[in-house]
Amino acid sequence: MIVPFNRITVCGGGNAAHVVIPLLKNRDLKVTLYTPFTEEAARFEKGASTGGIVSTDSRGRELRGAPDIITTDPQVAGEADFFLLVMPAFAHAPTLKSLAPHLTSGTITGAIPARSGFDLQADYLLSREGRPMAGTVFCGQTLPWACRVVDYGRQVRVLGAKESVGLAAKPADRADEISALLGWMLEVNFVPLANPLAVSLGNIGQVIHPGIMYGLLKDYRGAVWQEDQIPPFYQGVTDEVAAIMSRMSEEIVKVAEELTLSFGIDLHEVETVEQWLLRSYAESIGDSSSLARAFRTNRSYDGLKVPVTKKGAGYVPDFKSRYLTEDIPFGLLFSKSVAEMVGIRTPWIDEVIRVAGNWTGKRYLGDDGSTSGPDIEEARIPRHYGIDSAEVLVHRGIN
Ligand code: NAI
Repeated sequence: MIVPFNRITVCGGGNAAHVVIPLLKNRDLKVTLYTPFTEEAARFEKGASTGGIVSTDSRGRELRGAPDIITTDPQVAGEADFFLLVMPAFAHAPTLKSLAPHLTSGTITGAIPARSGFDLQADYLLSREGRPMAGTVFCGQTLPWACRVVDYGRQVRVLGAKESVGLAAKPADRADEISALLGWMLEVNFVPLANPLAVSLGNIGQVIHPGIMYGLLKDYRGAVWQEDQIPPFYQGVTDEVAAIMSRMSEEIVKVAEELTLSFGIDLHEVETVEQWLLRSYAESIGDSSSLARAFRTNRSYDGLKVPVTKKGAGYVPDFKSRYLTEDIPFGLLFSKSVAEMVGIRTPWIDEVIRVAGNWTGKRYLGDDGSTSGPDIEEARIPRHYGIDSAEVLVHRGIN
């Protein structure tokens, strides 16, 4: 593999960063780790002094590696030509803003997972400060691994790996090349997608996470659960919850179809929840005769429960879970705001955003149901990046 860059900066110091670093060092790349938090950097330094991070996968294979440079200084972090953000979506903006003044032109910057609207935000934040363009931006559809830190800065466990992960780039025609490069760097099968808008609208987490939370908890009245009473999450999907998700995803597919019809943009990768589930989990679903049964009999979801937090001697639903605090402002609200641009109504998405907002204390929608509530500034929607029409959105999504 001919590597078209000299140094990569990994941004983020969580579970995913622990997995990425040994993989990159296994390819002999020059790696900088950037976290703005001094305590995290100090713990990575300690780990590096004893040989670095050991990553163990589910088959027991071990990789070991330490970053060459560990820094909290964005100027030092900026001395690279490839930037990989592996962190929650709310951390993308502060990271991009801190790096922006230090970047040279022609860099490659991407996020895995990107969630929705990452390319627009990256382009906007990196193109300022007098620079003409952000270079190449890429968006990974999901994190390739389920992973947990065992000992911070020293040890991480990879519980499972996805068979393939979609990836789009801006300019769109670089997706093949970046997929091949990253695939080699991270030992993941990245599949090139048509354009970043396909990743943003096709972000299935925005449907299944808030959709199941809404479906399972809309009638919740404050009960405290014992551990064995915590409901299963995916395997708790009833016909009613499945119908809610179907309607939400159909609303998004309609938006994609309208954009294709009006502007000719290729969004065939934006799927319904049924299509996505059956495609992604063909091998592990026991009974695919209905959407609810397909969720309930998917062995990959064994043991996964509603996210909870401790209350006294029991548990209550965790309404601060990323299933709501990430997938709504960095997912559903993106799709909702694009739907507004093309004049498509989204009553099911609106209902979920509204009810979840009561739980999280956020009002993203105004009284008229539009994206005009007092908290909408927190959401990653196109107009926050100077995009106020579908035409401009489509143009920026490809070029
Ligand atoms: P994490 O929660 O371990 O990452 C937290 C890290 O993000 C912190 O350690 C810090 O370095 C960085 N961060 C937090 N706030 C920041 C800020 N304001 N500025 C700069 N950096 C900040 O997340 P993890 O597990 O590494 O996952 C990354 C993404 O992948 C998340 O969106 C997560 O939902 C998703 N994901 C994770 C999976 C997993 O198994 N870990 C599985 C599927 C998706």
